Amino acid sequence: MATKDRAGDEGTMNAALRRMAESEPELAARLMLQSLPAAAASLPNGLSYRLELDELGAWRVARNGRRHAEVTEVSPGEDLNGDAFAIQTDARTLAELAAGRNPLTAMFRGRLRLRGKARKALALRNLSQDAGPRELARMGLPLDADLLYRSLAYAIEPEWTLGYSFRIAYELLGDQGGAWTISVDDGSVSCVRGAADDADASVRMRRSDWLKLLTGELDPTDATRLGLTELEGDVFAATLVGRWIDRAEGVDGPELDREARQARRQAKLAGSWGSAVNGSGASSEPGDPGESKRQPGGLMSYEQLYALWERQNWRAHELDFSADREHWLATPSDAQVDTLHSFGSFYVGEERVTADLAPFLLAAPSGEVEAFLATQLVDEMRHAVFFDRFMAEVMALEADDLRSRLRKIEEELLTQRPWHFLFDDSLRDIADRIKAQPDDLKLFVEGIVTYHMVTEGVLAMPGQRILIQYTGDHKIYPGFNKGFRLVEQDEHRHIAFGVRFLKDVCEERPEMKQVIVDRLCELLPEAAKVFVPPQETNSRAYWSYGQHSSQVYGFAYQALNRRMKMIGVEIPGPEELMPGPVDFSGLDERSRIREPTPA
Ligand SMILES: [Fe+2]
Ligand SMILES: [Fe+2]
Repeated sequence: MATKDRAGDEGTMNAALRRMAESEPELAARLMLQSLPAAAASLPNGLSYRLELDELGAWRVARNGRRHAEVTEVSPGEDLNGDAFAIQTDARTLAELAAGRNPLTAMFRGRLRLRGKARKALALRNLSQDAGPRELARMGLPLDADLLYRSLAYAIEPEWTLGYSFRIAYELLGDQGGAWTISVDDGSVSCVRGAADDADASVRMRRSDWLKLLTGELDPTDATRLGLTELEGDVFAATLVGRWIDRAEGVDGPELDREARQARRQAKLAGSWGSAVNGSGASSEPGDPGESKRQPGGLMSYEQLYALWERQNWRAHELDFSADREHWLATPSDAQVDTLHSFGSFYVGEERVTADLAPFLLAAPSGEVEAFLATQLVDEMRHAVFFDRFMAEVMALEADDLRSRLRKIEEELLTQRPWHFLFDDSLRDIADRIKAQPDDLKLFVEGIVTYHMVTEGVLAMPGQRILIQYTGDHKIYPGFNKGFRLVEQDEHRHIAFGVRFLKDVCEERPEMKQVIVDRLCELLPEAAKVFVPPQETNSRAYWSYGQHSSQVYGFAYQALNRRMKMIGVEIPGPEELMPGPVDFSGLDERSRIREPTPA
């Protein structure tokens, strides 16, 4: 019986033997007898001795030049008859000796008796320590599967099983087969004969294949692939026991090293895609995760933004428009035209940004950017669907489908030049160019500035805030108000992505800062005129939804400037970027009756 303490499993084999000697000494002794032909193969040629075990029998062990020693059962108490010595002991002492107990102690206690040439018995110190079941199988020596399965209950270190509780049935089919159930219960292992019907997993194979697995002739992975091993139920539990068996035999070292290496890597990579609680503003409240809800100076990563998207998903089809329908019906025709214009410009805008985002997705410079943009594509279409529902179910548009409704609004209402400058000449144009040159980073940067910084950040955001504030304050269109708040929440996430992307790009390629500034200067003075209501002619000063243009321009400029500071970009003053004077007091002034800032 092997008694060596293998590297990485210090004391495992000895501990197993000690446990077995204590509880089932006969099982331990029989196991050692089974492995004796292999274990004694390392003794000097010509040596023969007797082993007499109380109540079990007597054996002659002889080295006679063959590959392994010959072990034959003899009658106890016979003359030595040429054998060098005889050892007489009991099963338990034998197991204890194998587990490293000092033989002299056993002799003093009279539990070990030696007849014959004691000096020759010293050769037993050379018993091979590699005579496990694999070695026996390789030598073609007989193997008793029952002994081996029952010994597993001792070979598996109880502490390996802490935290686990399951039962596995093993069945060897064919000649000399059998069935056993190994039970693991949080620090204890036991084995009984027979396959439990309600085991968590069952492993079945031919005994002949089991032997091939032991000799190494058959690889465990191949055995599964070829259907030679049949595994039902809890694969993880069965795998664990398989690993513990290997570990008990001292052959699991490389796997344990691999496990430790991968566990370190797992710990290091835990929390990817925002999967860990990161405390960086995963709020479901409308707000700006890209700016206001995190540690100063910290920006969310693409992965965290992705996780936020998963948490903040919402359902456009569940919004309740019943009060909205009533409000719309009660609204006079003239007022309806104004509302239709405001809401309609967002409706068409949402569809446009959906269609024009696709080229960005195709040109994404990294997988993380691609993943985020894919979430945004879904968002934008959801926004368009939200508006489409409102246009059909509340505003009762005559056209019958989404594209017909879009066309009607665009052709009849969106006649102002700035709207077309933004969506046709700027956004569609850059999307088309990105589609043609997906590898051009400068173009992609100009695209993100156009899309996320200008269209979403400067132009859509104040308009959203104003409409949400107006409908909320005046208790009108509650279904729309709720949906638009959710749209706003998404938009903040989109803008946060844009800031993250531009910051990363500028850190790596500082020359991109100028690209950003140039693009802002090119677009903003004209595009910001989308705020001007259709009936107004002076883009420098006007009122809209209770807000003065200077407040709107001021709010938009401040938001842009704050984001550009995060990116590390200095932008020109508001007089260069905004179509009119600015007032930085914000959009929270709710009274129409206030002194307008001089134009
Ligand atoms: Fe949107
Ligand atoms: Fe958006």
